[in-house]
Amino acid sequence: MGRVVIRGGLVVTAADEIEADVLVEDEKIVALAAGGSTPAETWTAGQVIDATGKYVIPGGVDVHTHMEMPFGGTFASDTFETGTRAAAWGGTTTVVDFAVQTRGRSLREGLDAWHAKAAGRCAIDYGFHMILSDVDDGSLKEMDLLVDEGITSFKLFMAYPGVFYSDDGQILRAMQRAAGNGGTVMMHAENGIAIDVLVEQAVAAGRTDPRYHGEVRKVLLEAEATHRAIQLARVAGDAPLYVVHVSAQEAVAELAAARDAGLPVFGETCPQYLFLSTDNLAEPDFEGAKYVCSTPLRPAAHQAALWRGLRTDDLQVVSTDHCPFCFSGQKELGRGDFSRIPNGLPGVENRMDLLHQAVVDGHLTRRRWIDIACAAPARMFGLYGRKGTIAPGADADIVVYDPAAEQTLSARTHHMNVDYSAYEGKRVTGRVVTVLSRGRTVIEERRYTGHAGHGVFLPRDTCQYVG
Ligand code: URP
Ligand code: ZN
Ligand code: ZN
Ligand code: ZN
Repeated sequence: MGRVVIRGGLVVTAADEIEADVLVEDEKIVALAAGGSTPAETWTAGQVIDATGKYVIPGGVDVHTHMEMPFGGTFASDTFETGTRAAAWGGTTTVVDFAVQTRGRSLREGLDAWHAKAAGRCAIDYGFHMILSDVDDGSLKEMDLLVDEGITSFKLFMAYPGVFYSDDGQILRAMQRAAGNGGTVMMHAENGIAIDVLVEQAVAAGRTDPRYHGEVRKVLLEAEATHRAIQLARVAGDAPLYVVHVSAQEAVAELAAARDAGLPVFGETCPQYLFLSTDNLAEPDFEGAKYVCSTPLRPAAHQAALWRGLRTDDLQVVSTDHCPFCFSGQKELGRGDFSRIPNGLPGVENRMDLLHQAVVDGHLTRRRWIDIACAAPARMFGLYGRKGTIAPGADADIVVYDPAAEQTLSARTHHMNVDYSAYEGKRVTGRVVTVLSRGRTVIEERRYTGHAGHGVFLPRDTCQYVG
């Protein structure tokens, strides 16, 4: 490989903003030199990237994706190949996806299956969390082995009875195990038992449109589950608890109270909760199905609490929960019964841009943008140092970002393998120009130059997040 110099840009990390040249050697960043009085003039390189007028930022770290995820009788429409390529287009250079334990089968079988789907196909680096669908003596023992292999986080579901659901006893046992082996428990916090009663009642009463998905999955049932998860984690011995896809103001309040009490409790939200609302779910002609995900979109009034939580560090991470299903043939499975609409939204390509728009809109500072999208997710899931920052010794995962470019998000121009955009027609300021993954150009001046199989599996450390 060789040397690459990125000259003249504003290097933005979670901690700093400095005008500096960045020197890359093979897969790593080897030096930064502040502009002007620097040895950078003397650096020779095979490739010089001019970043004048641009930001030079760490590649995005999206710790919540579901490529090829089985759900509701179908599969998420992005494969590891198409989904990671789209991620690269959007300035994300690491994804952590969810390997799924099938009920009645071992964690090992699930993990092997996900390794087989991803190996040799990814454009960017990837890791795995493990979804526990069956907490028993066998899977509890296997958790220890997975931590040793760099699968250091485990998702449990308080929702989806009969599918992924774990009861409180199973959750407690998994949390106890994580407290012992250093793992992090990720929680889908919605009271699925109560929700299923409301679903049945709604469908029986003929309330079958997509908007009822939002009505039955009540804010109170997200807040209640969040509270319960926090208490169970305390009883289990304070293993880190990371609540995924937080959407309700009342759930943010539960996290804030726990954090004020000094507990190792963390929260993630997603762009869809920051930029979309129940108004989208109510779109006519079944168009609302495009916005069916769980936790559901909320009334727009919840957004202020999410933005505030991101500023006050009551929420630490924004990931996408990228789980795309085509409108045609997949979302349509739920015509006449919203409970049959596969849950999930596309977005892996849009996250860095939407969060930059939040900088433009005044919700976040530039450094906080990089923190919630790169540094904090890397720390939370044991990748920091290697991923999430621009510093000597880190992987050369670097994005040259044009903060002044204007673009319109659309399914016509995106690279995700899905037939609609959740943000169709939205104007955003800022755009990815060039992307390096471990020193290799994967996007160069808005042309794809990467290849399937460049991305490698990332064994992860345990949680490095302090505070
Ligand atoms: O609707 C969603 N979020 N689908 C993906 C699965 C999950 O619960 O994260
Ligand atoms: Zn979930
Ligand atoms: Zn998810
Ligand atoms: Zn390669």
